[in-house]
Amino acid sequence: MFVAGATGYTGREVVRECVERGLDTVAHVRPDSARLDHWRAHFEDLGARVDTTEWKLAAFKASFEALQPKTVYALLGTTKARGKRGERSAVPDTYEAVDYGLTTLLLEAAVACGSRPRFVYLSAIGAEGRPLNAYMDVRKRVEAAIVGSELPHVLARPAFVSGGDREEARPTERAAAVVGDALLGIVGKLGGKGLATKYRSMTGAEVAKALVHIAGRDAETIVAETEELLRALEA
Ligand SMILES: NC(=O)c1ccc[n+]([C@@H]2O[C@H](COP(=O)([O-])OP(=O)(O)OC[C@H]3O[C@@H](n4cnc5c(N)ncnc54)[C@H](OP(=O)(O)O)[C@@H]3O)[C@@H](O)[C@H]2O)c1
Repeated sequence: MFVAGATGYTGREVVRECVERGLDTVAHVRPDSARLDHWRAHFEDLGARVDTTEWKLAAFKASFEALQPKTVYALLGTTKARGKRGERSAVPDTYEAVDYGLTTLLLEAAVACGSRPRFVYLSAIGAEGRPLNAYMDVRKRVEAAIVGSELPHVLARPAFVSGGDREEARPTERAAAVVGDALLGIVGKLGGKGLATKYRSMTGAEVAKALVHIAGRDAETIVAETEELLRALEA
């Protein structure tokens, strides 16, 4: 298992879940991470290996050729707030550079490595429709690239991935998830159960557990929205 975005809210839980299931797990941490030592100790304590391949296509091709991963998790993403903060990063904090650029770089390396890994992408609800903004436009293009790659894949499309356990404060996102869940509770009671389930928020740990479970299925192509992800939690 190769987990890109391992330091993120969902990624760190995917690493934990894979290790708990006894899977050989490699957590990727960018070499320019300000918290490289912290993450190395954290993942090694869990029982994962740590990889710090530089975000360059040739470097990832070489790493994947050596690692021959069975599954590649693509859990990368930036936010507008990060972009505005202008953090010093080898890869600019834009949706185009991170969400699209790094994910498709990973995909290209996965195709080239020869092990035909399953590519597991954390997309978002509505990615298949007409994009309403740059964030959704990127998700749609990444999904198209994955389908076109002919690798076996999982496209996971949750609504909000949010929880009180997220280190990075995202008050607007959290408030939207809390208020949204409360409203959806009412919608559900009024008979709109399908709608309530579709837009329910999930924590990073919940999404991770569902992703790892679904990634273990023997199917070429899986598209999982919230309802399917929640079902996987019960399996
Ligand atoms: N939050 C939601 O409601 C939601 C819903 C559906 C889908 N999604 C999508 O799911 C994915 C994962 O979400 P999340 O909330 O788990 O993400 P997150 O906590 O923000 O983690 C993002 C990951 O991307 C890496 N990253 C960000 N900017 C980078 C850069 N410039 N260079 C290299 N690596 C970079 C981060 O590495 P560092 O730790 O080193 O910065 C981290 O590992 C994202 O694409 C997100 O858009 C989110």
